[in-house]
Amino acid sequence: MSKVMKIAIVDDEQDMRQSISQWLALSGFDTEIYAGAEEALRALGPDYPGIVITDIRMPGMDGMQLLKKLMATDSALPVIMITGHGDVPMAVEAMRLGAHDFLEKPFNPERMTELAKQAVAARRLTLDNRALRRELSHGEHIMNKLIGSSSSMERLREDILDLGQADGHVLIDGETGTGKTLVAHALHAVGSRSGRKFVLVACGALEEEALTRRLFGPVLPDESRLPAVEEARGGTLVLEGVETLSDAQQERLLGVINEQGAPPETRIIAISNLQDEGRTSEDALRADLFYRMASLRMTLPPLRARGEDILTLFNRFAEQFSEEYGCDALTVSAQEAAQLLQAPWPGNVRQLINVAERAVLQSRRGQGTITSLLMSDNDEMAPVMTTEGKPLKEYVEAFERMLIDNTMRRHKGSIAAVMDELCLPRRTLNEKMAKYGLHRSDYT
Ligand SMILES: Nc1ncnc2c1ncn2[C@@H]1O[C@H](COP(=O)(O)OP(=O)(O)OP(=O)(O)O)[C@@H](O)[C@H]1O
Ligand SMILES: [Mg+2]
Repeated sequence: MSKVMKIAIVDDEQDMRQSISQWLALSGFDTEIYAGAEEALRALGPDYPGIVITDIRMPGMDGMQLLKKLMATDSALPVIMITGHGDVPMAVEAMRLGAHDFLEKPFNPERMTELAKQAVAARRLTLDNRALRRELSHGEHIMNKLIGSSSSMERLREDILDLGQADGHVLIDGETGTGKTLVAHALHAVGSRSGRKFVLVACGALEEEALTRRLFGPVLPDESRLPAVEEARGGTLVLEGVETLSDAQQERLLGVINEQGAPPETRIIAISNLQDEGRTSEDALRADLFYRMASLRMTLPPLRARGEDILTLFNRFAEQFSEEYGCDALTVSAQEAAQLLQAPWPGNVRQLINVAERAVLQSRRGQGTITSLLMSDNDEMAPVMTTEGKPLKEYVEAFERMLIDNTMRRHKGSIAAVMDELCLPRRTLNEKMAKYGLHRSDYT
């Protein structure tokens, strides 16, 4: 699950760490400061939900040693090194050891924010994928992860079960955060290849040459794994950001596909992120590759197009976070519910999870509103509400469903208590629960 990402700042100079922290906090990041490498190392384990910015020159353990230790516990953790004048050779060495990037002193705060943003996005991707991978072994489990009762979610579940059993390659389009990676995991988990290799390559994150090597080889002497097309043999190969493949790479991929018999030994799931720009994978792939891939196609709907799911998802995630942070369940007012339903959600489910987490944290501190979160969440969300109106009926129903769901949960499935609180006769309550697909047994 996406979490609010942190930035750990490690610097022996107090003024320095304070000012970095203040600047990043002003840019909306959640920062933690450490006065030394040893202290930071004790706090930063594998799966650290964030990134690290560290000075290179520090008394005791220095930034380079810290980097080595961090890389040994979690080689995908983005570490940004702060280098002084004349530290260029060290910066180069740091990059070789796996540093994400470096910042030269005196640094430009805008560049720092930019780098931090990038690194946080990369970290989020890594952690999301890890979390999904941990759950991938159970097809049923992963299907349960897919929340939502809108007709498009129902259709999506059916498609996953159907396409999971089928043998062809799959093309998935959809805006960012709509669940494409989750669906790729689900397709693998419910199909005949579950238990075999699942190899995911984030194509957009690699330079062309590195991507060619990752996909087709040859691997470098110090790399322990096989090229992805070999590594995935007999299982599933997921290509995220397939639109970034160059012509030459597309041609080689086509070659790999053509060499396989039918049904293909390795299933390829290609994911594109072009919907954000109003395009699809058809616009970005060579026609011959597109036709080989597109026999099975899925397009995931944006969140704003499945209004019925917004409150359900919000509720479910808010509940999970309340449990995780050990605080009371969140209550959503009718006005806030309407705003959740009207927000454009450019970041889709990922953004909603993020808003739910921050709403829980805010309410634990007893301040802030969901409205303010929706306003501040994203620059692109400046006009907070979508202009595409939804019918009033849809709001009313979504809100009614949420109220009943919450009240049932609070009363642990006691129909009498819910009837009492909502002033509903038993028959009406039963009818509404049936209409909204709510079952008493889920609350007891
Ligand atoms: N229907 C859903 N029910 C529950 N969780 C969901 C659903 N769809 C997506 N999520 C969750 O939302 C987050 C984003 O999903 P995912 O990473 O699969 O999106 P994506 O389309 O691959 O995004 P990107 O284009 O940025 O790679 C994940 O934490 C995922 O588990
Ligand atoms: Mg993805």
